[in-house]
Amino acid sequence: MQEGHPVSYSQRTIIELMVPAYTNFGGKVHGGTLMSMMDKVAYVCASKHAGNYCVTVSVDAVEFLAPVEVGEVVSLMGSVNYVGTKSLVVGIKVVAENIQTGARRHTNTCYFTMVAKNAKGETATVPPLILETEEDVRRFCSALQRKRLREHARGYMTDYRDNFAMDEDVQQFLEKQRCVLALD
Ligand SMILES: CC(C)(COP(=O)(O)OP(=O)(O)OC[C@H]1O[C@@H](n2cnc3c(N)ncnc32)[C@H](O)[C@@H]1OP(=O)(O)O)[C@@H](O)C(=O)NCCC(=O)NCCS
Repeated sequence: MQEGHPVSYSQRTIIELMVPAYTNFGGKVHGGTLMSMMDKVAYVCASKHAGNYCVTVSVDAVEFLAPVEVGEVVSLMGSVNYVGTKSLVVGIKVVAENIQTGARRHTNTCYFTMVAKNAKGETATVPPLILETEEDVRRFCSALQRKRLREHARGYMTDYRDNFAMDEDVQQFLEKQRCVLALD
């Protein structure tokens, strides 16, 4: 087995000032700008742990709990939560700080699944993760639970799509929704 690395080995924080160029029409920071910054920190943590180039495969649980304002300083704290064979999950906590008042708000947390690749572009095995604290263990187990839930949901939705029929149940269900059926 490859030699492992503790969680602390690859923990990194990216700090960035929110400038006017990052805003949407409502004057708040674009969700896409924050996603791009999260992708960067996920890449840094995953590549550091893997010792290889990593690509983003999926992103779980992106929820913007509070808007981020221009002039705030955003810290994106990334930490490898889980390691499979060739994949890693990086948990990212985003905190926005008003520099003048020092008030800090947790604006979102999400989980990036990354896959390591070698110099030939082939998927590569990643070193094991050394869990040194109870929090490391909780995060590792939580990531595994999320992975199982996602696989279950994917199977469920594939069955749903493959077996979908425009029957009476569907019509009754849609009658309670805010939509208008206008089929030929
Ligand atoms: C990621 C990628 C290499 C996986 O290729 P693959 O042939 O499915 O590889 P494998 O089947 O060997 O799976 C490798 C790992 O990826 C994981 N994986 C594959 N698809 C996944 C998905 N949709 N969600 C989460 N994990 C996934 C597998 O579970 C496996 O994890 P493990 O080794 O820890 O058990 C391939 O899908 C790819 O190159 N995707 C594009 C990535 C990219 O370009 N990202 C930038 C987006 S702009």
